[in-house]
Parts: sequence; C-alpha cells; structure tokens
Amino acid sequence: MATQLQHDDSLALLDVSRMEIWRDDAWRAPFQRLLTEAPVHYCADSIFGPYWSITRHADIMAVEAHPEIFSSSYEYGGITIADILGDMNLPQFIAMDRPKHTGQRRVVSPAFGPAEITRMAASIRQRTTELLDTLPFGKEFDWVDTVSVELTTGMLAILFDFPWQDRRLLTLWSDWGGDIEAAVDPVRAPIRHQHLLDMTEYFDRLFAERKARAPTGDLISMMVHSDAMGDMKFKERTGNLILLIVGGNDTTRNSMSGSIHAFHQYPDQWDKLLADPSLIPAAVPEAIRWQTPLSHMRRTANQDTEIAGTPIAKGEKVVLWYIAANREESVFPGAERLDISRANARRHLSFGFGIHRCVGARLAELQLQILFEEMVARKWRVRVTGEPAYVPQSFVHGYTRLPVMIDRS
Ligand code: HEM
Repeated sequence: MATQLQHDDSLALLDVSRMEIWRDDAWRAPFQRLLTEAPVHYCADSIFGPYWSITRHADIMAVEAHPEIFSSSYEYGGITIADILGDMNLPQFIAMDRPKHTGQRRVVSPAFGPAEITRMAASIRQRTTELLDTLPFGKEFDWVDTVSVELTTGMLAILFDFPWQDRRLLTLWSDWGGDIEAAVDPVRAPIRHQHLLDMTEYFDRLFAERKARAPTGDLISMMVHSDAMGDMKFKERTGNLILLIVGGNDTTRNSMSGSIHAFHQYPDQWDKLLADPSLIPAAVPEAIRWQTPLSHMRRTANQDTEIAGTPIAKGEKVVLWYIAANREESVFPGAERLDISRANARRHLSFGFGIHRCVGARLAELQLQILFEEMVARKWRVRVTGEPAYVPQSFVHGYTRLPVMIDRS
C-alpha cells in the first residue's frame, strides 16, 4: 500500500488523477501530502487537463455551499474531472444548476422518501437472504461479482420495477456509463455510446408502458407522470438514466465490497457487531466514510473567485476530493481505521453536501444495513483470501475483484 511518487515527487507536478494511483490503491500518501502541504492545489497538466484539487473537509463544504459560483452544469463539462463533451455530454440533473436541477430532483425525491424506503425494505431483505443462502462455505469466491454486483443490481431493479430476468443489463450499462476513462478513449467511446443507446431504447419501452398505466411508486412511473421529467428529450432521458443507474449501482456496490475489506482489516469491529447487532446502524455510515465510493465530484467556477484565500479564475475546474476529506485527521482522528463507535461518522462527505447531496443516500444505507444484519444473524465472518483488484480510475473508487471465504463464528 506504500505510495511510490517516483514520477511526481515535486508538489507542483502531483497529479492525483493518474490511473495508476487508483489501480494500485496508492492514493493515501498523495492525498495526505495535499492535505498538509497544499489543500488548494493546482495541477497544470493531466490527461484531463488542468484542475484544482480541494482536499479539506471545510473547503469542500464551502465550495458546495455556493452552487451559484461553483457550477455543476454539463455545459461546462459536468461533474467529473473528465470533461464529457460532444455527443456524450448529456443533460442530467446532477449536472444542472438551479432552477432546472431543483425541478427534476423534486420529481425523483419521493422515490427515496420514508414510505418508499419502507416499501422497498422487505423486497431488499428477501433478495439479500435468497442470495446469502446460496453462498459457499470454506470455498473461495469473488465477493464483488457474486454479492456486491448482484445485490445492488437487484436493488435498482426493485427501485425501477425493472424486469427481473434482465437485471444484469443494469450492471452492464452502469459499468459503461460510469467509466470516465472510456468516455475519453477514442476506441472505447463508441462502444460506450452504443451501450447507452441500447439502454435508452430499452427504457423507452418501459417509459411507454408506465405512461399508459396509472402512476405507481416506482421511479420510472414517477418520472413519466411528472411535469418536469414527463417529456424529456432523447439526450436528457439518456443522461438522467445514466445518473440513476450509475448513481445507485457502482456506488452502493463498492460500499459493500469496501465494508468487507475494512472489516477484514479491523476484525475487532466485526466482533462488536456480532456481540451487539444494535450497533449496525452506526457501522453503516462509518463503512461508507471509510470506502468513499466516489472519490470526487467536480465543479467549474463561473466567475473569478477564491477558495480559502487562493484565487480561482472563471472557467477553472475545481475537483472536490471527498476521499481526502474523509481521511482528514483533524476531523476524523485515526481516520484510516474503521471505527464503528466514531461519534461523527455521519459527517463524512461520501454523499456530498448541499443542493446535490445524494438523493439515494437512505436507500444505499438501507441496503448496507440489511446486508450487515443478515450476515450477523448468520454469525458469519468473511475473510479476504487474496489480493483485491481495484477500479483503475479516479471517479468510481472501488473493487473489480475481492476474493473471500466465509467462516462461521
Ligand atoms: C448524487 C454518492 C447511492 C442517486 C450523489 C453525489 C454523491 C453520491 C457524491 C453528488 C453529491 C454532490 O454533488 O454534492 C453516492 C454514494 C452512494 C450513492 C457514495 C452509495 C453508497 C445512490 C443511490 C442512488 C443515487 C442508491 C439511487 C439510485 C443519486 C442521484 C444524485 C446523487 C440521482 C444526484 C442528486 C442531485 O444532483 O441533486 N451521490 N450515491 N445514489 N446520487 Fe448518489
């Protein structure tokens, strides 16, 4: 895990967007360096162009508190460090500013409200127990594909009321939709484009079906029966579908894989849950802090401004590294350690902050809580049995493979 800064040992050249840092799980040291030496740092040259890195918890909250200055708009290139341009630059409400953002967010919010969460809990628990009951004992398997992908894909299928037999299409579209390296790669970009066209075509059939029926509680029905989203144009439909699918899939998936890896490294914390399951609700935000499934969100300054006294020019790209803020020692002492008794775990920035704060946060927490509850009820302990493989990019922070074995305590 030791970080090798061979190529960029001068602070000015430090580029935390480099794919190798993420592939090799070597992000901790460069971010600690930014936090201590240059919390508002300019990288003049990267594969994604020049960008500012903001790493401190307070500075990230200050930027997110001013959406009128720090824009999320797709018109500037969107919310990831990669500028998504041309055909792939799709309107989606995470990448919109007020007032349009407000109208569209309001349409989908009820799908994640208390009533719907309660409705979904029973189905999620049923799908979770069905899957856990198929897992082998004393035999190595990949937690990512067998559990994390399957459960999150199932959760999304429930949210959309998506045909169950086709649910793995959601995984495929999510993987392509969230791959920001592919979006800027001339060879893979057309393949990504085709998958997203297929996705929109498939969903168009579902949109038509739901429009013909009376409104139901699922997300598609809510969208098609609303004023703000009922007659979205092709690009906006595609953009918002990617948002909802990637938003819910890659993120929750990696909070599940990350939890297993974290509890493996801090087994005393799992012992506490086994001894007292009432601690599970506190363990959920701490696991999400520890993993930080999205490393960053990006904003663009729409006027000359400043962050913590450093001037930022109009048009400059500002990257908010949640993953660094969630390891800031002055906010989370002993930050690298998973500590389910951490009093302020809920202050983590994994869900962002402000007007764009994750609309699906409660659903993600519910899914993780049910998973922990069902594992604790079975008195399982999951051991990581080989080297994990990591997603090789700086937006989705997660695992492509996590070999494990289950033991009973
Ligand atoms: C927004 C993270 C689960 C849907 C966001 C943002 C982050 C995030 C960082 C942007 C916040 C900002 O800009 O301030 C996560 C994490 C999750 C998760 C870490 C799991 C652990 C979900 C789920 C869904 C979802 C389950 C629903 C299917 C969305 C949507 C937005 C969003 C639609 C845009 C909100 C807006 O612009 O107003 N999420 N998310 N997310 N998330 Fe999540």
